[in-house]
Amino acid sequence: GKVAVLLGGDSAEREVSLRSGQAVTKALRNAGVDAHPFDPAHNPLAELKEQGFIRAFNVLHGRGGEDGTIQGALHYLGVPYTGSGVLACALAMDKVKTKQVWQAAGLPVARSVVVRRGEQLAFDKLLAELGGKVMVKPAQEGSSIGMSSADSAAGLEKAVALAHQFDAEALLESWLSGPEYTVAILGETALPAIRLETTHEFYDYDAKYQANDTQYHCPAGLSEVEEKALRQLAEAAFRSLGGKGWGRIDVMCDKQGNYRLLEANMVPGMTEKSLVPMAAKVAGLSFEQLVVEILRHSVS
Ligand code: DAL
Ligand code: MG
Repeated sequence: GKVAVLLGGDSAEREVSLRSGQAVTKALRNAGVDAHPFDPAHNPLAELKEQGFIRAFNVLHGRGGEDGTIQGALHYLGVPYTGSGVLACALAMDKVKTKQVWQAAGLPVARSVVVRRGEQLAFDKLLAELGGKVMVKPAQEGSSIGMSSADSAAGLEKAVALAHQFDAEALLESWLSGPEYTVAILGETALPAIRLETTHEFYDYDAKYQANDTQYHCPAGLSEVEEKALRQLAEAAFRSLGGKGWGRIDVMCDKQGNYRLLEANMVPGMTEKSLVPMAAKVAGLSFEQLVVEILRHSVS
């Protein structure tokens, strides 16, 4: 039967999703699947079944697509879909809630403070509390949109204002020096870890999708013991949120070299430059084999 590749949407990550969706559609077709791009920003989702689709491959990133909304709609329509369900997606979309779950599960995260829009704060005190340098993120966004760093009170105020343009909650995290790793999950199993090396101050939107001087190392160059610990941490992080099918867990080291969980992506990028396909290749899976595996894991 026909498979709808859900792509585009109207989140801030629309462009990334279009690229993910085109790559996925092509790969599914090459694998013999009757796949068609379906952009819910232009087609009524409620007509999926009427249009003959029996399954959805979801590559909508960000709000609306990765946050439980479309998962709930697909469940309601009775159309099986790839990836995690409503609750796991809703939790993972919110970095504040994600951290609360991980903390409760005893998993390692960076020290952080949440600032709500309109809150009056002493930015100098906040900065000192968090160790003098801070990464500021909107609670619900992807692809590093709305993120910036600060190491002065004035800079922090600006960074918080930027994050608040995207979300009513800003997450302020104590600066992690890195290196940064990401671990793709397929089914419930971690694939080989990737180490990210950027010439930018952090792995921002441009470093992710534009720059050609971002380096990806897979295998990551860890010892067997370190690689195993990282993969187990990623699997535990995914499992604690109730993740299913596939996803990607981002991790960063602190100065002492301890792993700190950053966030979970329940609909990670699938562009030519994306990380899950890169890890899959090292595990011996082509892009085509990867999308077929993800589709095989879809839930109803
Ligand atoms: N949020 C982007 C799509 C990613 O995690 O790959
Ligand atoms: Mg993300």
